[in-house]
Amino acid sequence: MNDPVDQRPVAVISGGSRGLGLALVTDFLERGYRVETFSRSESAELAALRESTDPDALFWSAVDGTDADAVEGFVRAAARRHRRIDVLVNNAAVGLEGLLTLTSAAAIDAALRTNLTLPVLLTRACLKPMLARRDGVVINLSSINALRGQTGVAVYGAAKAALDGLTRGLAREVGPAGIRVVSIAPGYFDSDMTSGISPDQLRRIVRRTPLGRLGSVEDVLGTVRFLTSPSASFITGQTITVDGGYTC
Ligand SMILES: NC(=O)c1ccc[n+]([C@@H]2O[C@H](COP(=O)([O-])OP(=O)(O)OC[C@H]3O[C@@H](n4cnc5c(N)ncnc54)[C@H](OP(=O)(O)O)[C@@H]3O)[C@@H](O)[C@H]2O)c1
Repeated sequence: MNDPVDQRPVAVISGGSRGLGLALVTDFLERGYRVETFSRSESAELAALRESTDPDALFWSAVDGTDADAVEGFVRAAARRHRRIDVLVNNAAVGLEGLLTLTSAAAIDAALRTNLTLPVLLTRACLKPMLARRDGVVINLSSINALRGQTGVAVYGAAKAALDGLTRGLAREVGPAGIRVVSIAPGYFDSDMTSGISPDQLRRIVRRTPLGRLGSVEDVLGTVRFLTSPSASFITGQTITVDGGYTC
């Protein structure tokens, strides 16, 4: 007799090895999703999570998101395995700090490939199974740097602003097929990406934040939970800012 078809929804999350990505992987698993994730290397935390998780629920591959063929291959394998993709979270990104005039062309190219080309190509690949089922949610991790200018992060901010443009344009393209596309623009939260921010800078950020604290991974998780829930079924094409009021 054939195995019954696994009805659990499937989430694809880029960059699930650490930071917000690892928290997203854990949260989607706890909510009963099967999860497909990739990163260039596997962290000890992700390896431990894989050890303790149903092997039919969590899949990780070593993929460098700047390799377009590898990204397509990853999605093809995921779609073949599960026959559905319900949610895509474009989470993987790299920070790039420095004045533009002092930044090499190679560093700019590498950041744009990870922070912009990767989410565009990953979204294109994941849309195929979503369109086939006329259902799905794409969440793009943007940043407050897409919304406000700040010295030293012009290229990072440009990539995130472009991602918000993708959110709006794509929402129109795929909305008629029942697929929603939303950006989340977090303020600063603790992760490897922000580990270089000095205590002085952190105090300045907190002072400028009406709610008087830094953000947390949990703040972003809550927004992802909401955006993937039926309560958000009429929200698409928007950027939701989660920054304690920093940009207001
Ligand atoms: N932290 C903040 O304050 C903050 C604020 C606003 C927005 N965000 C956004 O939130 C998202 C998560 O940030 P985070 O702070 O959690 O970042 P993080 O801790 O630096 O983690 C980044 C993740 O992306 C993966 N990654 C990076 N380059 C990759 C590549 N070329 N191919 C495959 N995977 C790659 C990393 O794994 P490997 O290195 O092993 O590949 C890692 O799993 C990002 O989109 C970021 O821009 C963060």
